Amino acid sequence: MLGNNAVKAIILSSVLALVGLLPLQASAACQLVSTKDGSPLPIKAVDEDTPEAKEFLATCVNPYTKKAAADADVAKTGKKLFGYWSCTQCHGGNAGGQTGPSITDATWQYSKHTTDKGMFETIAGGSNAGMPTWHGQVAGNPELLKTDEILRIIGWLRSMYAGGGDKPWLTETAQK
Ligand code: HEC
Repeated sequence: MLGNNAVKAIILSSVLALVGLLPLQASAACQLVSTKDGSPLPIKAVDEDTPEAKEFLATCVNPYTKKAAADADVAKTGKKLFGYWSCTQCHGGNAGGQTGPSITDATWQYSKHTTDKGMFETIAGGSNAGMPTWHGQVAGNPELLKTDEILRIIGWLRSMYAGGGDKPWLTETAQK
């Protein structure tokens, strides 16, 4: 037979476990961090965000990666933005590299770039080695890129990948 205190301890620990879990579920969101220093990136979902942008900010999964793999028209919207924002100046017209590195080979500047979250972090917040900051909310300049635009660009970049081996970005699942 369990003593009174043991029963109380079991009930207490179950309640604590429940209370501990609830806030985790409520705050399920993609925790984006700066490639420069690992600090949290100040990017929030905003009213004008597309459903794809909202999904990414909640789960870290970029819906455009699978869409662009299946539909060249979706990929093209990312390529257009890559040119519009002059990413081409440093990375070349097809992202194969120029003064900036190739984004279509298997050599990644940071190992986290094999995930869409990691690649998003470097595009949105820049790096310490020459990649500018592009997200309007991070740069404090609303003229710069929105979450949706960066995600479309990543979708196109993934569709251009020619480095061989696995493509882990096609099988990413929601992070909670
Ligand atoms: C002024 C030159 C410049 C421009 C413009 C530029 N980049 Fe970069 N980019 C770089 C450099 C340099 C690096 C390498 C950074 C490092 O190693 O820290 C980089 C790295 C990257 C990477 C990681 C590549 C890898 O192989 O891991 C991605 C993705 C990327 N840039 C996307 C973009 C996109 C998208 C744009 C346009 C919105 C853009 N870049 C515009 C210079 C540039």
